[in-house]
Amino acid sequence: MATKKNTFYVTTPIYYATAKPHLGSLYSTLLADVVARWNTLYGKDVFFLTGTDEHGQKIAQAAERVGKLPKEFLDGFIPSFKTVWKDYDIGYNQFIRTTDAYHIAGAQAFIKTLIEKGDVYKAAYEGWYCTPCETFIAGQDDYKKDQGPPCPSCQRTTIVVSEETYFFKLSAYQDRLLKLYKENPDFIAPKERLNEVISFVSSGLKDLSISRTTVDWGVPFPDDPKHTVYVWVEALCNYITALGYGQPNTKLGSSQQPSLNLLSEEFEKWWPANLHIIGKDIVRFHAVYWPAMLMAAQLPLPKRLLVHGWIKVDKQKMSKSLGNVVDPMVLCDRYGAEPVRYYLLRQMPINQDGDFSITDVEQRIESDLANDLGNLLNRMVSLAQQYNVREVPAPQVWSKQSLTLRSDCRNMVEDFENYMADYMFHMALARLWKFINQVNAYFHGQEPWKLAKKDKEEFIQVLSSTCHGLYAIALLLWSVMPNKMEQLLASIGIQNFCEGSVISHLKKEEWDKKFMLKKIPTLFEKPITAEEMKETIEKKQSDESAYISINDLTKLELRVGTIIQCEEIPDSTKLLKLAVDFGSFGQRQILSGIKKWYQPNDLVGKQAVFIINLKPRKMLGVISEGMVFTAEDDNGKPQIVTVTESVPNGSQLR
Ligand code: MSP
Repeated sequence: MATKKNTFYVTTPIYYATAKPHLGSLYSTLLADVVARWNTLYGKDVFFLTGTDEHGQKIAQAAERVGKLPKEFLDGFIPSFKTVWKDYDIGYNQFIRTTDAYHIAGAQAFIKTLIEKGDVYKAAYEGWYCTPCETFIAGQDDYKKDQGPPCPSCQRTTIVVSEETYFFKLSAYQDRLLKLYKENPDFIAPKERLNEVISFVSSGLKDLSISRTTVDWGVPFPDDPKHTVYVWVEALCNYITALGYGQPNTKLGSSQQPSLNLLSEEFEKWWPANLHIIGKDIVRFHAVYWPAMLMAAQLPLPKRLLVHGWIKVDKQKMSKSLGNVVDPMVLCDRYGAEPVRYYLLRQMPINQDGDFSITDVEQRIESDLANDLGNLLNRMVSLAQQYNVREVPAPQVWSKQSLTLRSDCRNMVEDFENYMADYMFHMALARLWKFINQVNAYFHGQEPWKLAKKDKEEFIQVLSSTCHGLYAIALLLWSVMPNKMEQLLASIGIQNFCEGSVISHLKKEEWDKKFMLKKIPTLFEKPITAEEMKETIEKKQSDESAYISINDLTKLELRVGTIIQCEEIPDSTKLLKLAVDFGSFGQRQILSGIKKWYQPNDLVGKQAVFIINLKPRKMLGVISEGMVFTAEDDNGKPQIVTVTESVPNGSQLR
């Protein structure tokens, strides 16, 4: 196998495509994007894989609930993943879907290899299964047959599974796994997580069931189509099937039988993965099952796992079933993608769970981004402009204070790099912000507005130090906020920075750059705070013309109706078409610009408040005979205005 030197292969978990991605899914993917970008700064050739996990009972059931075929159901969610990734500038190289033919072929080839190596046998299985987690629950033999124990991971009810199955001899790998952890204490970052895995493996491993006969929606088991491959086993294979593992060898001449090219060129180039990024709920699959199966197939093991905590809302894990998911698109619309990227990396400690809060988002944007960083750039460039300074060459002699700032900068780069090597993003950013504040203090302390009037050379020297500081800040922050940092760099005259030597160059402490200053639009806008919003409303209310009379109110025909049908309007990214039952007032067709937030099925059967005497109007050639009322929640999602308990259709609002 070719020796790998300068490549970096990073993966995200593949997401269950049963809903649009939420902030938790974005989080795993964002971490991978930052790691990928960070590695390009070292000149590495980077491959970044993400995708969707599309087989198994949970998906089949979700599709059935809405009366769709699984593939059709899944296809509906893929664009929402790709849109969120695009809007957040996630620069993945490949998006794998486990329903892709190459994945299915590759996963089957992998299972065949396990069989050939003698690590698979057929036997009867009886035990508990958690469908939402797609997990077999071990060690619960004392439970009665008709009463499954709650799933230890999600606490939901488990079902009994009693069927013939293929087992993988996981138990045979216990010692080799323990040896792996012992010899590679960095195998899992952060380190705390490794101890949990060691204690799980030390307590004894049972063989793993790797097939199901009662689940049709899956990859057919090689040479035994009565079975499908257990979804987790097949999903893990995505990390190698994406590289062409197990593809038919197309390079052979036509006279030869096609053979399996287990190890493709791409596979040889990228495998083993340098980093699998995963949430804490899926450690066992990646730290125990996956390495054991790779050992069995005699393939190299991934070099490292990065395990992150959960984003919680009101102390609970964000999840569709709890109804507390935060929509990343709403945050992106309101604050912009890059401030949200910064918030997630800075606020969420990688080694713990973190609480999501809008107040924190706004505070980080206002204080860290707008005040500390944006203002520093703005003050410096504005002052230079005021005194007609555009070119800022490096001075011959640096002042004592500038030399101090220069060594602060070098120290910060080293610390930042060390934190990034351990994937402690929040610590790296906190350290960087300490330096931003040092640059602020330096700039302010030098009183450049006075120097500009009496000592131009000194003035330029201060500008040059500040620019060198900002240059380092922007390069280090580039993997977190690529576009904003490119704008910052453009404002100090750096058009192209050479990826590849950036970090080593920064560490050399060569403050020898010539900068060209240019004013750019405000880098980070301060968010409108709740307080400011309240003031605007109060101001409006104190104005007499802002009031209406009771007569005005009676002009509005406000009635409650039940949404009986809801469809997307082809060619419209915004509109949903509702058919609404108003009882004795009949049925009406009402359009609403809420498509971004709702799947048609979310709304059918709901009662809502409508105005029905608005003049009918056409949108995209479709008539709308009223309007539904909505109110924006904390995440900017328009919540449908409804009644607390059901009322007859057509009831008027009074
Ligand atoms: N399909 C499996 C992964 C297979 S990988 C071979 C799966 N999918 S998932 O959609 O349920 O979760 C994917 C990832 O999102 C997991 O790493 C999970 O931890 C992460 N998150 C889901 N909700 C989360 C939060 N609320 N916060 C942070 N990450 C969370 O598991």
